[in-house]
Amino acid sequence: ITALTCYDASFAAALERAELDIALVGDSLGMVVQGQDSTLPVTLEQMVYHCKAVARGLRTPLLIADMPFVSYRDVPVAMDSATRLLAEGGAAMVKVEGAGWVVDVIKALAERDVPVCAHLGLTPQSVHKLGGYRVQGKLEAQAQQLLEDAHAVSNAGADLLVLECVPAELATRITREVPIPTIGIGAGAGCDGQILVVYDLLGLTPGKRPRFSRNFLQGHDSIEAALAAYVEAVRAGSFPGPEHSY
Ligand code: KIV
Repeated sequence: ITALTCYDASFAAALERAELDIALVGDSLGMVVQGQDSTLPVTLEQMVYHCKAVARGLRTPLLIADMPFVSYRDVPVAMDSATRLLAEGGAAMVKVEGAGWVVDVIKALAERDVPVCAHLGLTPQSVHKLGGYRVQGKLEAQAQQLLEDAHAVSNAGADLLVLECVPAELATRITREVPIPTIGIGAGAGCDGQILVVYDLLGLTPGKRPRFSRNFLQGHDSIEAALAAYVEAVRAGSFPGPEHSY
């Protein structure tokens, strides 16, 4: 499964041409588009705005929208937020971060026929609780918790599971054990699919390149060629390599 983040109509059309399976309007837009320090300031209004723009350029890939920070803090709020992203934004699925109390939210959305993507491991909306952007699940107790959380979100009715920055071995185990597809970012080649922030893939993100990403524009002369190279590498299993994994 090939997936990339997407924030506007032009990139959506490029993802369409590259035959990506999934376009995620990620709240990472807070960092890569707005220049914020975290995803926390992103509002539902902004997510709906970007979703609409992406939906105009997209036909085939599954359009997933992130539910931003506190927009799913309880079931009624989550239902209202999901309604806006699906009905106004044109998304076909919403993504929520975490397990614990989030499991009840996933269950409520799924029961009301809202397709849900869960997100475990490094969950950027919890950056202050996690103490930074770090690999999760390295300790045995953490790994066990992640495994239990993966089962919990799947049992609650999630349709997809994003695993961010978790050891490759653990991500492979989760992928084998849970019945829903996993999409990894910094989670090794054992996941069912891969996702990257599109600006990382194009080498646009300022500062140090995250270990899990690769600049696909290097050696290619257009954004289209870079996207095609990413799709081909994920499908062939040549990306991510061990050097992109933990
Ligand atoms: O917001 C985002 O871009 C994401 C991906 C990194 C999975 O959640």
